[in-house]
Amino acid sequence: MTPLEQAVLAAGHAPSIFNTQPWSWRIEGATVQLFADPDRKVTSIDPDGRLLLLSCGAALHHARVWLRGSGWSVTVDRLPDSERPDLLARLVLGKQVPPDPEAVRMAAVIPRRHTDRRSFGARTVSDFELTKLRRFVETEGAYLHTVRREQVAALAFSMDAAEQAELYDPAYRSDLRAWTQRPGYRGDGVTPDTAVKPGPRRVPVRDFFPASRADLDPGIAHDEGAAYVVLFGLGERPIDLLRGGEALSALLLLATADGLATAPLSDAVEREWPRQLVRHLLTGLGEPFLIVRLGYRSGREPAPASARRDLRDFVTVTA
Ligand SMILES: Cc1cc2nc3c(=O)[nH]c(=O)nc-3n(C[C@H](O)[C@H](O)[C@H](O)COP(=O)(O)O)c2cc1C
Repeated sequence: MTPLEQAVLAAGHAPSIFNTQPWSWRIEGATVQLFADPDRKVTSIDPDGRLLLLSCGAALHHARVWLRGSGWSVTVDRLPDSERPDLLARLVLGKQVPPDPEAVRMAAVIPRRHTDRRSFGARTVSDFELTKLRRFVETEGAYLHTVRREQVAALAFSMDAAEQAELYDPAYRSDLRAWTQRPGYRGDGVTPDTAVKPGPRRVPVRDFFPASRADLDPGIAHDEGAAYVVLFGLGERPIDLLRGGEALSALLLLATADGLATAPLSDAVEREWPRQLVRHLLTGLGEPFLIVRLGYRSGREPAPASARRDLRDFVTVTA
């Protein structure tokens, strides 16, 4: 495999809304282009494609990290053609250079970073760690707000309000069915072995299987020590969201490398009213992209890996 093929293979491990993996890549010589795949948009909760762009940004960051960690320089041009909004980025492979040690560390966790929907234990995430993650996110062009203890109830309320509204929406229920009942050969969607049964949580976690078919037991810890962070940007232009997705990947990979369990939560930012509540938590600083729960698991079993599409489904190579 060429370095660019290996990079897009690594990018395939990126997190995405409902595990839609809404991207495709075109490799031509030393250039690779990243495209959004609008057919994979979850329209009921993402009509404007914000979550789709965040997901594609995460895939872009995974590819960048893999290349830098493997000792390749790369130039990245984001949204290079205003006539083609689906063309999100063009990467050109440069020379071989000494691998960047931070990228080596993050590239190593790409295959073992998984969303962990089980509850986290009593051990708290230190201020030192949260500051480190915040600074790292800022280097990718987005921002991180740590939800303060007295703000957690408002976050829980917004998540709950969003979930209730969504479960009443036939379009949402239909999207949920479509992405949780995928034939195995497609290698996408959310499967019962990665979803968690409902239970008491500090902040509710999306119920992917309202008919109680989720396999995972949440555990008895109730997220006591979990930290909730809001990833946000100063605006919501496509470039803000693409960079936001890159920052999301940076956050998740660094947290994983540091031994934290992670779980993105987007329910509360999908509908306008709960989203307003989350915006308030930022005291007018910016536009919320996503919430991430961070913490330590008390048990030792790793989070289950979710399905991935075959490389041939989302990559084309021309000489
Ligand atoms: C933009 C975005 C929004 C997401 N929203 C949620 C969510 O609301 N609830 C949840 O449990 N997981 C959420 N996730 C996690 C995805 O479901 C997860 O990345 C996907 O199923 C693939 O699994 P993996 O992260 O273990 O590779 C989100 C991920 C992204 C990138």
